[in-house]
Parts: sequence; structure tokens; C-alpha cells
Amino acid sequence: MVQADLLIHSGTVVTLAGHSAQPARGQAMSSVGLIKDGALAVRGDSIVAVGTGAEVRAAGWLGRETREINAGGKLVLPGFVDPHTHVLYAGSRENELAMKLAGVSYLDILKQGGGILATVRSTTQATDEEIKAQTRKRLARMLSQGTTTLEIKSGYGLTVAEELRALHLIRELDEEGVQDLVPTFMGAHAVPPGWSEEEYTTLIAEEMLPQVARESLAEYCDVFCEKGVFSPESSAKILRKAREVGLKLKLHADELESSGGAELAARVGAVSAEHLLRASDAGIRALAAENVIAVLLPATSFNLAQNVYARAKTMLAAGVPLALATDSNPGSSPTESMPFVLTLACLYLKLSPEEALTAATINAAHALGCAALVGSLEVGKRADILILDVPNLNYLPYHFGSNPVETVIKRGRIV
Ligand code: NIG
Ligand code: FE
Repeated sequence: MVQADLLIHSGTVVTLAGHSAQPARGQAMSSVGLIKDGALAVRGDSIVAVGTGAEVRAAGWLGRETREINAGGKLVLPGFVDPHTHVLYAGSRENELAMKLAGVSYLDILKQGGGILATVRSTTQATDEEIKAQTRKRLARMLSQGTTTLEIKSGYGLTVAEELRALHLIRELDEEGVQDLVPTFMGAHAVPPGWSEEEYTTLIAEEMLPQVARESLAEYCDVFCEKGVFSPESSAKILRKAREVGLKLKLHADELESSGGAELAARVGAVSAEHLLRASDAGIRALAAENVIAVLLPATSFNLAQNVYARAKTMLAAGVPLALATDSNPGSSPTESMPFVLTLACLYLKLSPEEALTAATINAAHALGCAALVGSLEVGKRADILILDVPNLNYLPYHFGSNPVETVIKRGRIV
């Protein structure tokens, strides 16, 4: 009998099993597959057994070479999947805090050449090594808080060369690092100074997208569809071209104003629509009808400080599958913490701890097209496992502001 390399036992194991084929929606988002006195066996980088301690031991995985971890009743979860981040950049924007507190809006800061455009300047002026060194620190903070898989969007370059450079740097960080990184091309993050929206949209469609596809640098294409940034028409043009060159689609939709973003995401067959603070009723129905995952970013609402949160409960009732992400970026959401996002999801999106956890793991994996590999603790899946110093699931969102994650196991290795 082959032996496990690692056996975790005596934990409250939350498997999130049963949602790998389809994202969980409605009632199914509450079904988290909790096993009291649970155990997990790992061999190589994969999970080979999950069940009660008695079941896993009876299956004979425990051998002389097996390393055992007694989880002592603590919570054992799949690694968090963060399906929406902008962590590849140089610099920071704490200088904008005073403006924000004085009531200047996010889009007005951008119009004045700050916001995203400020980060474009600091990033394009930085060397590859500087950008990577700063991003590594963010990735390390994410890992320590349990994020084992995440998406990273480009979008602080806004020229052909700089957008390609960003995607190359994401690839290099993916190859060298512990976490799995999913690259998204987001040249359509802002219109660069000196360009009209139409001219820049054409540049993205005619030059950037074909090159990104030729070098296989991204899996997804995303657009900031927002009044004063990219209109639904420009967004549609970019997304259609992205689909043509073989990319899957995401959309920043209805974040600051309602502009038909959710409807557009459904119309173009996007995998996910993100933000959705101001999604219309028709938009929510369209997402449900087309099976589009709503990636909700309550840390952005929190940090924009306008008390506007996505209507998660309405979406849930309509049958929209929900995922959660940090939106980690230097402006609208300077946090790396999925545990904090879980707290906000419960307090302000009114999700139950079960629904929030489903959204932060298996549904988030669906939003990144990797639900067959990660997002739940099931036999055959990657051994991305967390042990949290938390006595039960309710405690996780309840106690916030410090890091609950005690042990992170990525692809079978304790990190
Ligand atoms: O998702 N909305 C556009 N992009 C980011 C913000 C990026 C930034 O401010 O640097 C977001 O909120
Ligand atoms: Fe974003």
C-alpha cells in the first residue's frame, strides 16, 4: 500500500466538496461539506483521501514515512482563491487619502491625472526588478493570509510594450513563486493621456490583443466599463476581439455608476462580472440567465467609503453564483486579505459564513477556470490546504483584523 506523505487529522475539515463541475448558486452555496474530527491525506502535490479520522486511517494511508499534523480541532480549509487583483505595480497612493477624505471622488482623482494614471507613471518608470520585488511582498502577505491561487490583471502600462511587459512579469512571478497566478490582460484599465477613448480602443483591439494572444500571455481579458472610462460600446468591441483571439472574458461592471455593465457581461458570454455595486435588476437577471459569476469586492466598497455594497442577497436569490475577491490594488482596495473580505462579506453583503466561504474558494476557482484543480478538499485535487487557529466557521468572519491562518500547505508542501 502506498503511504501518504502528510496526514492532517483531528480538524474541523470544511471540504467544499460537490461544486467542482458547476459553481454553487442559491441554496447550494450553504453546502460546505463540514466534517467534524476530519482528516486529509496528501501524497505528492495531491489530496488522496478525505473523511473522518477513522475513515482515512482505515484506508491505510498512514505509514512510517507519513508526517502527521494534529489540527487539534482547528478549522481546515482549502486555500483561498482570490479571483480579482491588480497586484502587479510599483508605488502606492497614500497621498490621495487626504483628497478622498476631503470628498474628491475616485473618478475625479483619475480625471486629474491621479488614481490609476498615477500608478501607471510609477510603474512604467520602475525597472522589472523593482516591480517584481514590490509585488513579491504583496504575494507573500497574501500567502500568509491563506491565498494559494490568485488572478493578476495587467493595466498599469497602457502602451503595447508596457502591457506586454506586465504580462511577462506576471509569468515570471508565477514560475518562481509558490502561488498559482492566473494572468488577465487589462489594457483597457484607463485611457492614457493624449488618446481618445476610440483611438485607444482601436490600439487595444488591433495591436495589444493579437500580441497577447500570439505569446499566450493571458487567459482572460478584462475591461473597466464605467462612465468616463470605457463605454459599453468600446468595452464590447474589446471583448469581442478578445474572444476572437481566444481569451476568456471578464468585466469591471457597474462599479461606480450603473451603466449596463452586468447586461453587457451576460451578452458577450463573460465568465464573470466584477464589482456590480450598482448593477440593475435587469442586469442581475441577465447574469443569472447566462450563468455569469458575480465576483464581489466588498473591500473596495469599504475603502471607497460611500456605504454602497453590491446587492449580494438579491443576486443569490436570483440564482447568480457569487465569488469574492480582494480587488487588491493601490487605489480602491489596498488590502491583500481574504479573511478581511470574508468579514465584510458577512457584515455588509449579508452572506452567511458558509456562503462567503463558498464564494472565496470553489466559486472563486470557477471564476478562474481552475475548479477542477483547486477550491475544495477532494480526492485528486491539488493539496492547497489551510489550518486556521479558529475553533469553528462562525469565528472566522467574526474575529477580524488579525491573521487567523496558522499553516499554509501549497501543492502538498508546508510553506
Ligand atoms: O477594480 N476599477 C478599476 N480598477 C481598480 C482600481 C485600480 C486602481 O485604483 O489603481 C478597481 O477598483
Ligand atoms: Fe479591479
